[in-house]
Amino acid sequence: MTTPQNPVPNVNTVNRGLPAGKMPELRMMPAPSDANVYGDVFGGWIMAQVDIAGSLPATRRANGRVATIAVNSFVFKNPVFVGDLLSFYADIVKVGNTSITVQVEVYAERNRLQTNTVKVTEATLTYVATDSDRKPRKVPSIETLIGA
Ligand SMILES: CC(C)(COP(=O)(O)OP(=O)(O)OC[C@H]1O[C@@H](n2cnc3c(N)ncnc32)[C@H](O)[C@@H]1OP(=O)(O)O)[C@@H](O)C(=O)NCCC(=O)NCCS
Repeated sequence: MTTPQNPVPNVNTVNRGLPAGKMPELRMMPAPSDANVYGDVFGGWIMAQVDIAGSLPATRRANGRVATIAVNSFVFKNPVFVGDLLSFYADIVKVGNTSITVQVEVYAERNRLQTNTVKVTEATLTYVATDSDRKPRKVPSIETLIGA
């Protein structure tokens, strides 16, 4: 078998200014209908996506439903524009008795060209594991989750 002389670089593995070695929970592209009257993307639209992204690791850790109890902090560091490709990274930073706190960071690849990537948002949210009556329930231990 011959090796290609000039292999085409895999653009997915090129460092595009996104956090190395991490998988985003969500990737989204805001549309014109997500923009405010000035043409930039609504903060409320970004907050909704951040809430969804943060709930994903919380739901996995809780092994079931969660409800958002608090948005502890939320910073819009840079504007988001229609057509930006957004990547939402979410990490659990604290597990309590019934609560799970998640930090979410959002990066924008401007105009999908992957040449200008900026962090646009940082937030910390707390979720509560809830039962079928929507009451708080204890977060299961890691041992229970992995069946040890
Ligand atoms: C989530 C809910 C079931 C929790 O019930 P609750 O009786 O208020 O809960 P508690 O006071 O027992 O607190 C539960 C946990 O949240 C934490 N918590 C409470 N208020 C908090 C706040 N302002 N910030 C961060 N954590 C908070 C508590 O410390 C506790 O954590 P721990 O068990 O790990 O110590 C209830 O508040 C609720 O239904 N809220 C509405 C949720 C909702 O509609 N969200 C939007 C859509 S998902």
